[in-house]
Amino acid sequence: MEAADFIWRNGEMVAWDEARVHVMSHALHYGSSVFEGVRCYSTPEGRVIFRLREHIRRLFDSAKIYRMKVPYSQEQMCQACRDIITVNGLQNAYIRPLVFMGVGTLALNGLQDCKIEVAVGAYEFGAYLGQAGIENGIDACVSSWSRSTSAAVPALAKAGGNYLTAQLICNEANRHGYLEGISVSAQGMVSEGSGENIFVIRDGKIYTPPLASSILGGITRDAVMKIAHSLGYSVAEESIPREALYIADELFLTGTAAEITPVKSVDQIEVGDGRTGPITKAIQEIFFGLFDGRQQDQWGWLDWIDRDAP
Ligand SMILES: Cc1ncc(COP(=O)(O)O)c(C=O)c1O
Repeated sequence: MEAADFIWRNGEMVAWDEARVHVMSHALHYGSSVFEGVRCYSTPEGRVIFRLREHIRRLFDSAKIYRMKVPYSQEQMCQACRDIITVNGLQNAYIRPLVFMGVGTLALNGLQDCKIEVAVGAYEFGAYLGQAGIENGIDACVSSWSRSTSAAVPALAKAGGNYLTAQLICNEANRHGYLEGISVSAQGMVSEGSGENIFVIRDGKIYTPPLASSILGGITRDAVMKIAHSLGYSVAEESIPREALYIADELFLTGTAAEITPVKSVDQIEVGDGRTGPITKAIQEIFFGLFDGRQQDQWGWLDWIDRDAP
């Protein structure tokens, strides 16, 4: 991560190096934070943030699940995201809004006593799983770590603590030479990648695990479902058994960081013929077309920071 100049911190811009936290912050001990990952793209017409309002809404949903009151409005948080791009002069960037329980108490229920801190950072960012991965696919494995049931760890909240499992999944995959790990739910059905949702294609039909399979309700997942519909495909939100990954014709991961990354093998079993499949390619064309000017934004997903006059 390359340092930018400023971080938005509790309503003000502070220098990157000044955006520090106290070691007695509740979140540091217990994972009591919620956050978002949002992307800014530099398009031929200017800079856009992809689905900013939906990301900020999910941030507030995550906070609500943990009963944290965000001391700013959703519109103020959207503006903070636009401002952090502008003041830092970023082009293709990852934006990280964060709400966390600060100093006050180390009692587990710190809701009354801990200050709710809010920050937004951003930095220049490329393809998370590599440009070659986006084009040719990545090698993935099924993780030995499974997702907790939502009765223990609410998967729909994008909370700091959830990412302990994600780290185990990702680290294990990387140690064994895979770029990403795919976990199963507590019920043993396919859940998601460590930081991505998953789509499976077989016989021209598209499937993705339902929210009940302990997944984060991905904003890219939703975009891909809408893009697929626009191409005449329906997407079945269905429980997916592990072995369906091995016999899929096409497989891809979706996420703000990973965008749309095909998977070319799972546990060293080739997916289809090992090449990015036609349905995946068609969906990628529309998705990436939104940012290089080839595709009209018929969904209202682009939040313009600056738009050059045509
Ligand atoms: C665990 C997990 N699942 C799925 C996703 C994909 O969600 P989105 O498309 O909203 O980035 C992410 C990334 O934020 C994630 O961390």
